[in-house]
Amino acid sequence: MSHTVTSSDSGSAVFRTTLHLPGARSGKVRDTFTLPGDPGAARGDPARLDRMLMVASDRISAFDVVLPCAMPGKGVLLTRIASFWLKWIEGQGICRTHLLSTDPAGVPGSAFGAGTTTRGELAGRMTIGRLCRVVPIECVVRGYLEGSGWKDYQKTGEVCGVRLPKGLRQCERLPEPIFTPATKAVEGHDENISFERAAAETGAELMGWLRDKSLEIYNKAAAYALGRGIIIADTKFEFGLPLGEDGEPVGGEPILIDEALTPDSSRFWPADKYEPGRSQASFDKQFVREYLEGLVSRGIWDKTAPGPDLPASVIEGTLARYREAIGKLAG
Ligand SMILES: Nc1ncnc2c1ncn2[C@@H]1O[C@H](COP(=O)(O)OP(=O)(O)O)[C@@H](O)[C@H]1O
Ligand SMILES: [Mg+2]
Repeated sequence: MSHTVTSSDSGSAVFRTTLHLPGARSGKVRDTFTLPGDPGAARGDPARLDRMLMVASDRISAFDVVLPCAMPGKGVLLTRIASFWLKWIEGQGICRTHLLSTDPAGVPGSAFGAGTTTRGELAGRMTIGRLCRVVPIECVVRGYLEGSGWKDYQKTGEVCGVRLPKGLRQCERLPEPIFTPATKAVEGHDENISFERAAAETGAELMGWLRDKSLEIYNKAAAYALGRGIIIADTKFEFGLPLGEDGEPVGGEPILIDEALTPDSSRFWPADKYEPGRSQASFDKQFVREYLEGLVSRGIWDKTAPGPDLPASVIEGTLARYREAIGKLAG
């Protein structure tokens, strides 16, 4: 099914992507497909490899619930900022990423037909990436104390087994950024876990590499963003093992996959308004979360599916914040 939700004031939105391609999967925000490799290509030619097509829809999720309304154009904004950062990370020589192309011409004509998403709708919101086996750990880095980290700290003085100094305030800058892994829940909420538990899942050597790379990306990206007036308070990375022709990992270093350093996967705060001891103004989903928390406190919603619709002012306000962040970071 291809619902194209139309919002009278903001043009059309892509809520769900339908294409004649194998391997269709829908995450909360992105729809992914397999772009089969060309078996006629010469042995060893990368054209033989299956690739991944990732389409960022205009869905928005909050508290792990996908809301019923679309945010027209959000997928395009997300794709723009994610591909900016993926290229930036490669350019800095930090690690390789899955990004191959964002050109809709790379999608074969056979993917389109009656009732499918069109090539024009894919433009700006699609990424062709190296197909990977996803490492089943969310690689979270926190430079400041907010969200589930702040909650855990108030209860235990720790975040993911990392003991922190006493007396830190909400949103306080940490003495140094910390790596706080979480499970990648198939359903429901991700759970913060210790480095040791994450290492037991993936192997200690791989987890150590992921921690070091995550911290390196965060440190460099946060310094860049701060120079442009944005604090990246925390963020989440995903890594994968590139697959070969036999569908098994080819070996070598993992690569950065998915989106990176977007307002969906990070907390972005305006640096000039930063003040610890309270929640911060933000360029991210926090605007939506605050609206929803208002509904929760009035007993209208309980953070379970189905989520509520958002008023046009919250949709527009969120899009404006995303645009402002992109303008500052990648403009
Ligand atoms: N290069 C890749 N190879 C395989 N899977 C990927 C790659 N990049 C991203 N993914 C996966 O694609 C999905 C993106 O959809 P998303 O809406 O973010 O899902 P989720 O609800 O799991 O967060 C995620 O499950 C992510 O792990
Ligand atoms: Mg995701």
